[in-house]
Amino acid sequence: MDSLIPHQPMERNLAMDLVRVTEAAAMAAARYLGRGDKNLVDKAAVDAMRYTLGYVHMDGVVVIGEGEKDKAPMLYIGEYIGDGTSLPVDIAVDPIDGTTSVARGLPGAISTVALSIKGTMHYPKEFFYMNKIVTGAEARDCIDINAPVKENLRNIAQAKQKPISEITVVVIDRPRHEQLLTEIRSAGARVKLISDGDVAAAIEAALPEKEVDVLMGIGGTPEAVIAAAAIHCTGGIIQCKAWPKDEKERKAAIAKGIDVDKVYSTNDLIDSDDVFFAATGVTSGELLKGVRYFSGGAQTQSLAMRCRSGTIRWVDAYHNSTKLAKLKF
Ligand code: FBP
Repeated sequence: MDSLIPHQPMERNLAMDLVRVTEAAAMAAARYLGRGDKNLVDKAAVDAMRYTLGYVHMDGVVVIGEGEKDKAPMLYIGEYIGDGTSLPVDIAVDPIDGTTSVARGLPGAISTVALSIKGTMHYPKEFFYMNKIVTGAEARDCIDINAPVKENLRNIAQAKQKPISEITVVVIDRPRHEQLLTEIRSAGARVKLISDGDVAAAIEAALPEKEVDVLMGIGGTPEAVIAAAAIHCTGGIIQCKAWPKDEKERKAAIAKGIDVDKVYSTNDLIDSDDVFFAATGVTSGELLKGVRYFSGGAQTQSLAMRCRSGTIRWVDAYHNSTKLAKLKF
């Protein structure tokens, strides 16, 4: 049989269903572009995502959501979601990664969802932030988050067979990264600063065709797990370590017996090949185009990945608002 034709009976590729979920969230939230109100953006995305996820054929439980039940009425951690049929899965949602970017009309915000088979998604929720390094398949065996920045960049450059001066590192623009930036620059690499949205940036770093070769720096813990799902599908790698935001957070983790120096690799965050990932652009960025409205509808661009098959799909969609209004979903 042709090696490009699946050798196993076709299973349902939930990533395709998830694209409809992230498309709905992106289209709902993008209406509030540049209005200066993060809550409006977030609420629109959460409502649309919650509604559409309810129709996905799965028996899902939210592992990463909008917070604990009392603080988040929807998509809270522990909530059961889906139509209750088919696969038991763990779900991580980030209705908008880059809420501030949407509120301010800045690039690079996405809506995203990841699924993995039940019990395989691990969220070190004791920590708000993690220090992360992400790169693609070519350099997956030569990074070490505990090694000096220069050594990692030299090894990545060697694996990618190009000089360090042609390696591009994406970093979230935050004062906490001053020292990191000094080290990257003194190693001679190129730097791309982003205002927000390290999930999209991590995926870029893991995809061979993108300008960015590596992501470095401290970002949110939920975003690390969601990015890990996508990175696992690409064959790239993420390594991360807790970055306690203060002494209280560090001591609380230690009191629970958690090793604050543990290095989490892709498999420590997502321990399965049954992983599905989808993202839709909300505002245009290097990874995905943002939502564009036109008379009678909207255009979206999404990414759908399935780890077991390794298939990565780029999905350009045209949505007809008149016809959609007549459908239940
Ligand atoms: P939100 O959309 O949830 O605000 O997250 C945006 C983001 O930039 C993430 O991509 C990143 O991991 C995190 O915030 C960084 O946190 P901080 O803004 O506190 O530095």
